[in-house]
Amino acid sequence: MRTTDGGLATNSNFKKGFIMTNYAIILAAGKGTRMKSDLPKVLHKVAGISMLEHVYRAVQAISPEKIVTIIGHKGELVQQVLEGKTLFAEQTEQLGTGHAVMMAEPELLNAQGQTLVIAGDTPLITGESLRELIDYHVSHKNVATILTAQAENPFGYGRIIRNDKEEVVKIVEQKDANEYEQKIREINTGTYLFDNQALFTALKNINTDNAQGEYYLTDVISIFRQDGGKVGAYKLRDFNESLGVNDRLALATAEKVMRQRINAQHMVNGVTFIDPAATYIDIDVEIEADVAIEANVTLKGQTKIGSGTLLTNNTYIVDGIVGKNTVITASVIEEAEVADGVTMGPYAHIRPDSLIKRDAHIGNFVEIKGSTIGENTKAGHLTYIGNSQVGSNVNLGAGTITVNYDGQNKYLTDIEDNAFIGSNATIVAPVRIGKNALVAAGSTITEDVPDDAIALGRGRQINKEDYAKTKPHHPTQRG
Ligand code: UD1
Ligand code: CA
Repeated sequence: MRTTDGGLATNSNFKKGFIMTNYAIILAAGKGTRMKSDLPKVLHKVAGISMLEHVYRAVQAISPEKIVTIIGHKGELVQQVLEGKTLFAEQTEQLGTGHAVMMAEPELLNAQGQTLVIAGDTPLITGESLRELIDYHVSHKNVATILTAQAENPFGYGRIIRNDKEEVVKIVEQKDANEYEQKIREINTGTYLFDNQALFTALKNINTDNAQGEYYLTDVISIFRQDGGKVGAYKLRDFNESLGVNDRLALATAEKVMRQRINAQHMVNGVTFIDPAATYIDIDVEIEADVAIEANVTLKGQTKIGSGTLLTNNTYIVDGIVGKNTVITASVIEEAEVADGVTMGPYAHIRPDSLIKRDAHIGNFVEIKGSTIGENTKAGHLTYIGNSQVGSNVNLGAGTITVNYDGQNKYLTDIEDNAFIGSNATIVAPVRIGKNALVAAGSTITEDVPDDAIALGRGRQINKEDYAKTKPHHPTQRG
């Protein structure tokens, strides 16, 4: 992103003493044939949110008075993503990007101001670049300004054709480009700023006389030139921003670039990464300073991680809230909350609607679902706790199982503070284990245990003297 040469960088909307109004059109009607997907292209996700949502967020940076999203292929699905956030115009037949913009006419025809047109498949364009584009457009008093970039490999993009004075004269699409034009490496990002009135006037004059038989939006550029309008280009410094995602290869590239950006920002904010290229963090995840994250950790959705926490290799958290100074070792947390000072794993699985309170210890191969685990409670090994309220300072011995499901209904288990559950206890819900109570190892508990009691829910051991001597395995029986 290079700085603009105009004098308006401080307030892009301010021109000659009056406020210019911004509008935006997001193109999202196409199927995205090259994705080979049932899902409309713009709904494919990058770092946890759809490409369309990324574009919408970038567009916010120019504070448009109105945003019109052009929908078509599976329009209801696309509309859901931005429902209540933008207006929508339907393009029933996808006849090209120029035709798509025409669909916004009912909303914008009489609007005075400047209109940003952006494709829904360019998730890496930043709001900052859009603001720079506006500043450049306004300060150069252009009718149209194209956001361009210099591509290493320009194949597939529209090329920017300049005359010998370096003025932009037209855009030529890949399929229409001659040998000379195909060598041009300055490409059209598919993002533009137009004088709104001039845009809709020019669109009346485009046709389908081209290799794809489509109404190209890009054709308005040569129309402006013929009418004597001033056309310009604002070139991105970073080609990555311009990436148009047409297939799954580009989708993976977008994901990689977005990952670099997200992780770089977290590092700037004070988060340690062992290997940022192998750490997968969705865009809305929040991480406090002094968190350390080892390789191959995935943090998705609305996850939040508190300061001083360590997430080791292979930890996978979706919509989880983790407190401060907690250590999560190679574990999975889904839609659950883990408080400060907890130690967990390896290989714990915390499932939805669970709350692990502070200083608890959840050890290896422990699964918790829909349960609260109290402060300082320990479940060290091979345990399943479901639909349970477990108090503080409880010890859940190895192999403790709550039996919460009879095949039809789920029942609650209540384990009060300071209870001590021996190893391999099976606790059949609904049941309550009282404060300070003991449950003997190997018990099957089907009835409530009063406070301070011990429950022995198992067969009594019987020893038969000398019985083993009658069996073939015994040394006295061997030949
Ligand atoms: C377009 C540009 C090309 C530019 C590239 C940047 C044109 C003619 N070409 O090509 O110069 O380099 O983007 O990525 O504009 N869409 C509709 N309705 C339609 C057709 C497309 O809404 O009838 C939407 C698509 O959903 C997509 C966007 O417009 O979000 C761009 O369409 P796409 O087919 O991907 O255009 P490109 O061939 O990439
Ligand atoms: Ca495209």
